[in-house]
Amino acid sequence: MKFTTAMTTAVLATGALAAPRPGLAERLEARGVLTRQSIPAHKFDNSGEENTVLLKEGSNGANVQYSKNWAGIVREQPPASGVYTEVSATFTVPDPKATDNSGETQAASAWVGIDGDTYTNAILQTGIDAYISNGQKSYDAWYEWYPNAAENFDLSLKAGDVIVATVQSSSPSEGVAIIENKSTGKSVTKSLSAPASTATLGGQNAEWIVEDFNSGSSMVPFANFGKVTFTGAQAKAAGGEYGVNNAAILEIQQNGKLLADVQVQSDTQFTVTHQ
Ligand SMILES: *[C@@H]1O[C@H](CO)[C@@H](O)[C@H](O)[C@H]1NC(C)=O
Repeated sequence: MKFTTAMTTAVLATGALAAPRPGLAERLEARGVLTRQSIPAHKFDNSGEENTVLLKEGSNGANVQYSKNWAGIVREQPPASGVYTEVSATFTVPDPKATDNSGETQAASAWVGIDGDTYTNAILQTGIDAYISNGQKSYDAWYEWYPNAAENFDLSLKAGDVIVATVQSSSPSEGVAIIENKSTGKSVTKSLSAPASTATLGGQNAEWIVEDFNSGSSMVPFANFGKVTFTGAQAKAAGGEYGVNNAAILEIQQNGKLLADVQVQSDTQFTVTHQ
C-alpha cells in the first residue's frame, strides 16, 4: 500500500510528538520511502540464524516451518497435473493492539496469494493491513504483484469487517485481485500484469498468510493482531480444488520468540494467533 495522506499525517504528527526517537514513518519519510511491501517468506534453517534461538514444536509439529515474516499455511507443491491459478479465503479484519508503549507504528497483514514461498520470483496477492500508531488504528485493503510494492484498493475498512480475498491468474503474467465485502457481496477488483519478465508466476505455491511486512528494507514492527481465522480456504489447480490439509504450516519467530502460532481446524479452516 501507499500510506494514505490522512494516515501519513497522523503518523508523522503523533510520532513526532511522542516517540522518544524518530518513528518508523519518519525514518522512512527521511529516506523518501513510504511503501508497504510483502516479500517472500524469510525462513530459518534448522540451525536458526542471526543469533536467533529456534524454538521447535512438539511431536505434532512435523509440518511446521519457521519464518520471520510469514505465518499461515502454504501448499508448496502443485498437483502433478497443473499449477495453482486461484487462491481464496474469508477472514475478519483484526483489531490491532500495540505490543509496547513506544507509540511507534506497528502493523500486521492478512492476505492470500500465489507463489513467494519455495517459488520466489513473484507473488500475486491481495489482503488487508491493520495499523496502530500512538493508539490510532487504521486499515487498508491492497493488491500486490511482488517485486512491485502494494497499491491500495479504494475501500474503507474497519476491524470486524468480514472479507473474501481472492487472487486468480489467467497466465503466468496476468492476474486479478478481488476483495469482496462478505456482508454486502460488493467487491473491488484489480487486473494486474507481471511487473517484469523475471517476475512471472510459477503457480508453485498457494498460501493464506498473516505477515509482518516490509516498508523499504525495514520490517514494520509487528502489531498484536489477536487472531485471524481463515475460513473457506481454497486453492484451484487444473480444475481441482485443494484445502490446507497436508500443506506446510509457517509460524513467525523473531528474536527467539514465537509471535504467531497456527492451529488447523479443518481442510478449509485455520487460525493464526498472536502470542
Ligand atoms: C461491508 O458492508 C457493511 C454493511 O454495509 C459495512 O458496514 C462495512 O463497512 C463494509 N466493509 C467493507 C470492507 O466494505
